[in-house]
Amino acid sequence: MTEDLLEKLKTEKALTREEYLLLIRNREETGNGERISDRAAELAACVRDEIYGKKVYIRGLIEFTNYCKNNCYYCGIRAGNAKAERYRLMPDEILSCADSGYELGFRTFVLQGGEDPYYTDEILTSIVRKIKEKYPDCAVTLSVGERPYESYKKLKEAGADRYLLRHETVNRKHYAKLHPEEMSWEHRMQCLRDLKELGFQTGAGFMVGSPGQTEEDLADELLFLRELRPEMVGIGPFIPHQDTPFGSREQGSAKLTLFLLSLIRLTLPDVLLPATTALGTIDPMGREKGILSGANVLMPNLSPVNVRGKYLLYDNKICTGEEAAQCIECLKRRIEKTGCTIVTDRGDHKVL
Ligand code: 5AD
Ligand code: FES
Repeated sequence: MTEDLLEKLKTEKALTREEYLLLIRNREETGNGERISDRAAELAACVRDEIYGKKVYIRGLIEFTNYCKNNCYYCGIRAGNAKAERYRLMPDEILSCADSGYELGFRTFVLQGGEDPYYTDEILTSIVRKIKEKYPDCAVTLSVGERPYESYKKLKEAGADRYLLRHETVNRKHYAKLHPEEMSWEHRMQCLRDLKELGFQTGAGFMVGSPGQTEEDLADELLFLRELRPEMVGIGPFIPHQDTPFGSREQGSAKLTLFLLSLIRLTLPDVLLPATTALGTIDPMGREKGILSGANVLMPNLSPVNVRGKYLLYDNKICTGEEAAQCIECLKRRIEKTGCTIVTDRGDHKVL
């Protein structure tokens, strides 16, 4: 019976490709009087609670540059999008974002940006060092794409604790459909291995429903994640951006994203798993539902309000308008309604 596969996944933390496929294909079916996806969410939340309690960790996201030298077909800040209004935050501006974040209780700062050559190793390491000097009790996470091993090494030595680099898809051929020829799946995977070797808490991840993705690919994602064992996994639905080659492709499904969050929690019980902004963008209750499906991290935006409307990877992104200054309070209130509590410690990955 398909529903028994969930129990098996919970106990053994792994399934075969065929078993994952059965679950994915039958997620809306009922077994033992309950929808499979609902049962998956219950089990996933239970596993999360056993390890982390009902705690949701918050990370302050600082989107410090929307310049990017790459041309991913799905991404709104791709170099080829001439309509994107570009901005860069200077080191002192990034520092003041961290200051206001610290005041608000954040103990992790995520510095995210496009692949912007302006931020040389020298500039970036100096920013990391300054944040770590001023806030030694905080974790610094970087999310600035593919860089040489030596660059990652310098950033680690400067004090960066974590690094997010989604692999985007486990399928080499699919990767080639999402990216221009200059970008390679092999290089991306090598970067992930480098980051792990250098001792970063590393985050991998993929988009759900990106053009050309199959259910088989999703089964392979789950097998791959179990093998890679990243400390963090970021997944969110693909959402078209009007000024990209994928502007008129169909968006990913929120329900499928939630189901995959649950399966990821079951195969990697101690993983740090965010309910992403993309999920909150296609479903107004997406982030709450993400938490109820086993996620345990939220990444509210700390970027200055005047640049938020410019860091647009996809259309209709939430928290970019007038309301932006109140986002954190709003999010806290909403999450507490799920029965979880927002905590402000660094929330490092727990090694079991
Ligand atoms: N829809 C959803 N997610 C996107 N990303 C980039 N473009 C989009 C889009 N159109 C994701 C990628 C990237 C992360 C920072 O945002 O997975 O790694
Ligand atoms: Fe910038 Fe993909 S467009 S990394």
